[in-house]
Amino acid sequence: MHTDKTLWGSDADKFNPMRFSNGVSRAANHPNALLSFSIGPRACIGQNIAMIEAKTVLTMILQRFRLSLSGEYKHGPVDQPTVKPQYGLPVMLQPLEN
Ligand code: HEM
Repeated sequence: MHTDKTLWGSDADKFNPMRFSNGVSRAANHPNALLSFSIGPRACIGQNIAMIEAKTVLTMILQRFRLSLSGEYKHGPVDQPTVKPQYGLPVMLQPLEN
């Protein structure tokens, strides 16, 4: 299903993270086309630990950078349903010296 061209388009077999730029539910022709850990009684039992691992790795990467708001940031909080920056949150990452 994850390489089905009717769902993902003609570049379904290509690594293209930008297809998720408008959120997972808009990446394919169907909002539930991405089932990384499967679903139902034989779904992945390691989903929670895998997600914790991914967050841990992201944390370790971010610890090596200084984060600051880009000059392009435009303040515009919006409720949808939690408060979010409606124009995005462009952030600059600067490597920390060792
Ligand atoms: C990013 C990481 C992972 C992904 C994307 C993933 C994905 C999946 C998927 C799609 C299935 C269903 C396979 C099928 O339908 O035949 C599955 C099953 C399974 N996964 Fe994972 N998995 C991940 C990590 C893990 C981890 C960390 C563990 C164990 C600690 C784990 C243990 C299992 C087991 C035991 C099953 C078989 C469940 C069953 O058949 O009842 N997985 N996984």
